[in-house]
Amino acid sequence: MLQQLESLYKEACSAIETASDSDALQAWESKFIGRKGEITSLLRSVGQLPKEERANFGKRANEIKDELTALYTEREELVRQRELAHSLEEGEIDVTLPGRPIPVGGIHPANQTLREIYDIWADMGFQVFRTREVEDDETNFEMLNIPEHHPARDMWDTFHTTTPGVILRTHTSPGQIHAMRHFAPGPIRVILPGMCYRYEQISSRKEIQFNQVEGLAVGTNIRLSDLKGTIAAFARRMLGENQKVRFRGSYFPFTEPSMEVDVECILCGGKGCSVCKYTGWLEIAGCGMVHPTVLRNGGYDPAIHSGFAFGMGPERITMLKHDIKDIRYFWGNDLRFLEQF
Ligand code: DAH
Repeated sequence: MLQQLESLYKEACSAIETASDSDALQAWESKFIGRKGEITSLLRSVGQLPKEERANFGKRANEIKDELTALYTEREELVRQRELAHSLEEGEIDVTLPGRPIPVGGIHPANQTLREIYDIWADMGFQVFRTREVEDDETNFEMLNIPEHHPARDMWDTFHTTTPGVILRTHTSPGQIHAMRHFAPGPIRVILPGMCYRYEQISSRKEIQFNQVEGLAVGTNIRLSDLKGTIAAFARRMLGENQKVRFRGSYFPFTEPSMEVDVECILCGGKGCSVCKYTGWLEIAGCGMVHPTVLRNGGYDPAIHSGFAFGMGPERITMLKHDIKDIRYFWGNDLRFLEQF
């Protein structure tokens, strides 16, 4: 048995030299010194020897086992180092490689203009008041003094839903009714921004969806001169300190009197160019004094209260500012356009 032990020892010593990875090393361990290993089982069968040989055998067997265990530990460390070096080499990161660019989004040009508009009106005491995009016919038209069959309805080609009387708002003006009913009989200074929808033939100048920013001021002693001064102040903040503004008489069913706001052409400075169609002026908004019927529908007494309202198109203002020739770019999702802002 002692001989057997010595030859196993030799075998183990040479076998460990060829265990070059942790799997092979593991196999070596279980073959020789593991719980079911050959050396271990030899040690266990020490009882089969004649008594006088046992001590000697046991001593040698333990020696060998200790030695092999030490060899194993040493080898294990070596293999581990080797495997680590290998995996570092394999998974090496080339720090000189340029990183993958993370595309950064930007604020949509229409939203940039909207935010500028919010800021200016906020400075003048107007808060944002949001109302629904899906409206009823009554609020979008009737309450704004546009009865059914009135020819003025031709100004707003409408998207209807499958529910009779429920439509997509054609302008932000129905927000005036919501705001008035919310604040009546108190004073109001709000802007009503948001998407509007019209059943239009899409062209470079017309889209079926677009933003508007409505404005509404209601109180006592609000006069046309307040409207003119406030709008002119807005135009100067938005377009430049020396911006010239003019008001032209117009017609809207929900205001009386009604006006159109023009600014001197920001591209040619009033000299005349293709954008202002050689008039020197650009139209930026409609406005007027809130019609008594509309005030009444909102819960105000026109004998006591008066107010002004306006409606402007942020996309249109953006187009004028940047000389954008086609409104379809705004919602066309073309990055070549959007990335310019
Ligand atoms: N709602 C009008 C439109 O969509 C714009 C407008 C004109 C709004 C005059 C107003 C206003 O509040 O006073 O064409």
